Amino acid sequence: MPTFVFSTDRPTDLDVDVLVLPVFEGPEAGPGVKDVKGIDLLALFSAAGSKGKRGESLLVPNTGDKALRAKAVLLVGVGERSDADPDVCRRAIGRVAHQLAKRKTAATTLPQIVSSKEQVDAVQATVEGVLLGSYRFDRYKSKKDGDASRLGKVTILGAGKADAKASKEAIRRGQVIAESQMWARDLVNTPALDLPPAELAKAAQAMAKEVGITSKVWTEPELKKGGFGGVLGVGQGSIRPPRLIELRYSGGGKGAPIALTGKGIAFDSGGLSIKDATGMEWMKSDMGGAASILGTMRAIALLKPKVNVIAAIPSAENMPSGSAIRPGDVLKHRGGTTSEVLNTDAEGRLVLADSLAFLAEKKPRVIIDTATLTGACMIALGTDIWGAMGNDRELIRDVLAAGDAAGEPGWELPMHEPYRKLIDSDIADIKNIGKRYGGAITAAMFLREFVGDVPWVHLDIAGPAFAERAGDYWPKGATGSPVRALVGYVLSKADGARTS
Ligand code: BES
Ligand code: ZN
Ligand code: MN
Repeated sequence: MPTFVFSTDRPTDLDVDVLVLPVFEGPEAGPGVKDVKGIDLLALFSAAGSKGKRGESLLVPNTGDKALRAKAVLLVGVGERSDADPDVCRRAIGRVAHQLAKRKTAATTLPQIVSSKEQVDAVQATVEGVLLGSYRFDRYKSKKDGDASRLGKVTILGAGKADAKASKEAIRRGQVIAESQMWARDLVNTPALDLPPAELAKAAQAMAKEVGITSKVWTEPELKKGGFGGVLGVGQGSIRPPRLIELRYSGGGKGAPIALTGKGIAFDSGGLSIKDATGMEWMKSDMGGAASILGTMRAIALLKPKVNVIAAIPSAENMPSGSAIRPGDVLKHRGGTTSEVLNTDAEGRLVLADSLAFLAEKKPRVIIDTATLTGACMIALGTDIWGAMGNDRELIRDVLAAGDAAGEPGWELPMHEPYRKLIDSDIADIKNIGKRYGGAITAAMFLREFVGDVPWVHLDIAGPAFAERAGDYWPKGATGSPVRALVGYVLSKADGARTS
C-alpha cells in the first residue's frame, strides 16, 4: 500500500514520476495545468483529439522543461467544470490507477477541481480512487500479472488555503475505508468452496482481533438453543454448517448502538428450488451483504468514532440434498415467528429474519441490513443502485444521503401496504414468497416482520455488490459496496461529527 501525504506545494515543484492533472471539458485547463510553462499541455491534449471528457487521458513525458520537476504529466479528462464533485475525483483517478501502479511516486491536484466546501471530501475520494482503482484479485492465478503496484508515495495537492489538518484526517479516512472495502471484495471474490460459513466466521474473528473489537461466533448447537430456525433451516442442506457472527465496537459510552446485519449466504444454489446454471454462476457473491458489514466494522474499529456499533451476521450455505428443507416446510425464527418456505431460493430473508429479531432484542437506535436479496431489485434499479426500504423516514433519508455522498447511490422503493397480504400464509405466520411483480418490496415486508418497532432500513444490494463488467474503480467481480456508504452513515452519527 502506498503512503499518502498532503501538501500545498506548487505542482511543478514536486519531484515525482508522474503528476496527474485534470482537464475540464473544452478542453479547459484544470488546477496545475497552467503552472507548467515549458510545455503546452493543453495544446498536446487537444492535438490528441481529447476534449476533457471523462475517460480521456494523455501521458506527456517531460522532455526538457527544467521548471517542471515531474518526469511526466498524466492529463485526465474530468468533464464539465460545473459538475465536478468528490465522486468525479474518485472515478478520474480510479481510471488511471493501474497506470500509477507502475510508478514509484505520484502527485495530483485533482481535489482542487471541487468547491472549497467539498475539498476535504474530495481528498478522501481521491485516496479511495487510487486504492480501489488498483485493486485486483489474483490469489488464484498461478502466474501473477507481474506488475503488482510499485506505488510507494502519493502526494495529494490541496489549494493554498486548504485545511491541512482536516485534509490529513481525510487521507487516513480514505485509506482505511478503501482498504476495508478491498478486504470485503476479497471475501466476496473468494470461491465458495474456500469460504463456507465457518471460514467466513474465522476471517471475521481474525479481523476483529486485529483491529481490537469483540467477537463471538455461534455454532450450530448454539443456534439451535437460541432458536435461530431460519439460519439452521437454510443451512441444513449443506454439509458445511451455518454460523452467526457477532461483532461489537464500543466507542460511544452508554449510548444505544447502531445495529448492522448482512446476508451471508456462502453459496446460493437455490436449494431444492434449484437455480439454472447461469443463475448460479455468480452466487458465491451471495454473502456480499455480510462482507459489506464486516468491512464496515473493520473501518469503524480503525477510525474510532464516538458511537457504539453492533453487528450480527447470519451465514449459511443454500444447497439441495436429502437433508435440505423442502418447499412447504415451516421454519420457526428467533423470537417465535413462523414462516412457510414455498421457494427455497428465497433464502436470504429466512436467515435475516433471525438476525433482525436478535438485533431488535438489543434495543438499538437503528438497524440497517444489506443483502443481495432479489433479482427483482436489479430489474427495478439496474446494476448500480441499491434499493432502500424501511419503516423510518429519517433513517431512510440518512442512508440515502450517505450513499450519495460516498458515490454509492441508492433509491427508495415504497412499502406499499396492500402488497403485505401477498406474503400471508395459509398455515404459518407468513410465507417466504409473494408474487413475481414487486418482489423486492414483498421481500422487504417479510423482513419488516422481525424488527418490531426499531427504526430499520433494508438495502437490497443485489445489483451493486457484484459487477459483471469493470467500472471506473473496480474490476469485474466484487465491488465491496456499500462499505463507503455505511461507514459514512456511522461516522455521521458519532458524537462530535461534522454536521454540515
Ligand atoms: N441471491 C438471490 C438474489 C440475486 C439474484 C442476487 C441475482 C444477485 C443476482 C436470492 O436468494 C434469490 O434467489 N432471490 C429470488 C427470490 C424469489 C425466489 C422470490 C429471486 O430474486 O429470484
Ligand atoms: Zn440468495
Ligand atoms: Mn436464492
